[in-house]
Amino acid sequence: MAQRAPLVAGNWKMYKTEAQAEEYIQGLLPRVSSVSGVEVAICVPFTDLRAMVDSARGSRVEVYAQNLHQEADGAFTGEVSAPMLAELDVHGVVLGHSERRELFGESDRALAQKVPAALAAGLKPILCVGETEAERDAGDTERKLRQQIAEDLVEVADDELADVVIAYEPIWAIGTGRVAMPEQAQEAVAFIRALIEGRSAEAARRVRILYGGSVKPGNARELLALPDVDGALVGGASLDPASFAEIVTAAVA
Ligand code: 13P
Repeated sequence: MAQRAPLVAGNWKMYKTEAQAEEYIQGLLPRVSSVSGVEVAICVPFTDLRAMVDSARGSRVEVYAQNLHQEADGAFTGEVSAPMLAELDVHGVVLGHSERRELFGESDRALAQKVPAALAAGLKPILCVGETEAERDAGDTERKLRQQIAEDLVEVADDELADVVIAYEPIWAIGTGRVAMPEQAQEAVAFIRALIEGRSAEAARRVRILYGGSVKPGNARELLALPDVDGALVGGASLDPASFAEIVTAAVA
């Protein structure tokens, strides 16, 4: 079996001013400094990026943005591009989060350009996919995942697929406290890996697929132990450095 280093990423969403972020990172760094064998990332608002990159420099904590625009520059008021993030030494970027898809009209067509834009700038993309509750109830989970993986990664070459991290986030489990049952998470993540295998067996062995949706210190160990789950994308429980550090530790337990 291929060795895939687990990744535990905290998605802060629209939380924390720069001052709050500074306080957080001072609490997180000592808690994770001695944990080895797991990559750790915080995905922070644009306004926190520079301070977090500076404060985390030389530590094991990587700093990600939560969105980017697919063009390098242009008349796109309010947007931020991949080269702008790369120049700040940002490590990666969350793309296609369900909140962006649902609330801000983020389309598969835009994502098909955003993922390669991130890779070209040297940023590690975490591409989020997942079904709604209605889609799951209708037996449409696999169709939805197949469509998102096909459309969002269409412009990524087969030999670059493993540079993308995929996060399976069932929308019904996000912020609800309703975590997917381990069998559901394993089944969906294994299905995503099989989709990647359809393009490249090598990429399927190497690509990291995370689970996200109500991951907490109390359920992280079981989810992270699933054979195809290579880490977690954590929302609410990442906002407190102590609970996030517990989840990081669970990844290597
Ligand atoms: P919660 O962990 O708060 O359910 O959020 C999950 C998520 O959306 C991470 O991107």
